[in-house]
Amino acid sequence: MEALLDALYGSALAEWLRFSRWGYASVNAAHILGLSLLVGSIVPLDLRLAGAWRNAPLEVLARVLVPTAAGGLALALVTGSLLFVTRAPEYAALPLFLVKMALVAFGAAHALVVHATRALLHAGAEARRRIGLVSMATWVTVLVCGRLLAFVGD
Ligand code: HEM
Repeated sequence: MEALLDALYGSALAEWLRFSRWGYASVNAAHILGLSLLVGSIVPLDLRLAGAWRNAPLEVLARVLVPTAAGGLALALVTGSLLFVTRAPEYAALPLFLVKMALVAFGAAHALVVHATRALLHAGAEARRRIGLVSMATWVTVLVCGRLLAFVGD
């Protein structure tokens, strides 16, 4: 594992990101765009599931917000991986980073299960409320962990 992390850190891509004038900044901006699309669409959808805006048709909201959230997550995953390689051994040793990754995995798995079981539209009101609250708590915590990474470690 250590060898893999060192290899990622020493790769040409990681070196380019560390030393190029705009490389890291552009990837960081794209990461923020991805997580904004994700959190900005998942929070209203989760609030609707939790019981807010009962008059707004869930099916219509889901048709717009689910693909937006999925696209944002895909962008955050790709750009987050690029940010990771710039300091791979350091991030992998940070408990906060590991918590963030565990929550990303949990949030993505939770969303896939909800999608696969079609629970978003077909579950009962109480189950939908639980789905919304679990999803919102997960992604907001991921966001906070991501931001706090800049304030821990060296
Ligand atoms: C595979 C998925 C992801 C990886 C590997 C990843 C990795 C990273 C890394 C390495 C940083 C730079 C931390 C630093 O030193 O300042 C970062 C920043 C950040 N990430 Fe992620 N991330 C991922 C997904 C996400 C998701 C899904 C969210 C939000 C829901 C998120 C939110 C943030 C935030 C808010 C920042 C701080 C941005 C800034 O202040 O410049 N990340 N991420």
